[in-house]
Amino acid sequence: MLKVENLHKTFGEREILRGISLCVGDGEIAAIIGPSGTGKTTLLRCVNFLEHAEKGTVTIDDVSVNAEKAGRKQILQLCRLSGMVFQNYNLFRNKTVLENVTEGLLVVKKLPRAEAAEIARAELEKVGLSEFEGSYPSQLSGGQQQRAAIARAIAMGPSILLLDEPTSALDPELSKEVLGTIRKVAEEGISMLIVTHEIDFAKEISHRIIFMENGVIVEQGPPKEIFLNPRQERTRQFIQKLYPADYQI
Ligand SMILES: Nc1ncnc2c1ncn2[C@@H]1O[C@H](COP(=O)(O)OP(=O)(O)OP(=O)(O)O)[C@@H](O)[C@H]1O
Ligand SMILES: [Mg+2]
Repeated sequence: MLKVENLHKTFGEREILRGISLCVGDGEIAAIIGPSGTGKTTLLRCVNFLEHAEKGTVTIDDVSVNAEKAGRKQILQLCRLSGMVFQNYNLFRNKTVLENVTEGLLVVKKLPRAEAAEIARAELEKVGLSEFEGSYPSQLSGGQQQRAAIARAIAMGPSILLLDEPTSALDPELSKEVLGTIRKVAEEGISMLIVTHEIDFAKEISHRIIFMENGVIVEQGPPKEIFLNPRQERTRQFIQKLYPADYQI
């Protein structure tokens, strides 16, 4: 379970997150949609403290961290409960696929090498990369790199997976491959918070859509409601722009 309460984040003079509150239940998949520059990436980065919000509380399961009083130890504890998948994969370039996946298990979880390799191989099999375990990221396609990044994140057994536009750097074919992998991972019941521009995918996979604009959540609800019958005019306009031709209520 992820709970974000009243999160505020400022860059310079600009308040990018202006009091964000949301919840993602166990096994729930929530997708964040919204215009560019709205603070979606910043929100995910604040959830796992890659950015430090000025105000607000992030809770994952039984670990709750108040941004104003957060200590290093508490933040580390919280970070271990979430996994992040970035737009540009962020794999270690000088490590093989297998080493990328075992790294966190060895360094953070301090597992014995054989056990780490066993977990990593199981995850690589899940994402269809078993035959590439000895390859370096530069030898893989973008889609394969992103699948390796997903394997790396889920190998740590996070309570929630945060994905920031996982397919936006990929062409449609590779994108499909990665979306298939995410779908498969989702079937295992891991909670996910996905920022995506893939509206059809969001519709299909998510239990809930969160529409964000200018640092606030404008509206959230089940995909059917948000896409077909939004309550807010702004949501309606955003959706309409995505589906100008066949939009109907
Ligand atoms: N490290 C930073 N320093 C200063 N400003 C930043 C920083 N990171 C983000 N911003 C600003 O915060 C705003 C929100 O950025 P963010 O990346 O969260 O938007 P986004 O909703 O993810 O957009 P996109 O859909 O294009 O990815 C932007 O105006 C951006 O310029
Ligand atoms: Mg972004």
